[in-house]
Amino acid sequence: MRIYEAKDYQEMSRKAANILSAQVILKPDSVLGLATGSTPIGMYDQLVEWYKKGDLDFSKVKTVNLDEYKGLTHDNDQSYYYFMHEHLFDRVNIDPANTNVPDGTEEDPEKECARYEKLIESMGGVDIQLLGIGHNGHIGFNEPDSTFAKTTHCVDLAESTIEANKRFFASVDDVPRQAYTMGIGTIMKAKKILLIVNGESKADAVAKAFFGPVTPEVPASILQFHSDVVVIGDSAALSKIPR
Ligand code: GLP
Repeated sequence: MRIYEAKDYQEMSRKAANILSAQVILKPDSVLGLATGSTPIGMYDQLVEWYKKGDLDFSKVKTVNLDEYKGLTHDNDQSYYYFMHEHLFDRVNIDPANTNVPDGTEEDPEKECARYEKLIESMGGVDIQLLGIGHNGHIGFNEPDSTFAKTTHCVDLAESTIEANKRFFASVDDVPRQAYTMGIGTIMKAKKILLIVNGESKADAVAKAFFGPVTPEVPASILQFHSDVVVIGDSAALSKIPR
């Protein structure tokens, strides 16, 4: 694992965008595993800027997103489908047919999760998976648990995640209680992993995930067993790691 320190959010975003753009330049038909949340917004803005300058071409790129709230329709501005279109897909020359987000409107979890897992396989797997991290160490929506979930599944969101995400909704009651997410096994199959994190509030999660024991109680800790992980954190997020 390589950990790169960035002085602030902007530098973290630019470093992360550098890695994703290198991937696309080296392999124009890359399968990018993408993530949502507030953390990657600056990175997407940077990629769009480079695309507009003519430095990046997304025409052959394929994408699979990590997760989606169950029950939110595509036109709901809090759905991850909406987020991805707003922050990236509608701003670059990616073919919408090549973009994939779990379908939050599918009511049958078994059906949707099996479909999504098969889809990722049929694309030949993920070349690089982008991740953020939750305050409790979650990745995607894999919440602290007694076991690591293998494949795409439906989860009940932790109270702390509902609390953390309520800032995006009109009220806490509007936050969906369930989500579809790639499993830990799905994430671990990605050839490369890029995790980005900023802010002091994530410093404990970072220290536990990358320097504590590997345990499903801290889902991101499993990444210690992946052979190609890059973590880019700003100084605040890395303030509690051993030096
Ligand atoms: C959300 C998402 C994750 C994201 C994390 C952190 O609940 N499901 O994919 O990485 O929590 O979000 P943020 O970047 O807004 O702190």
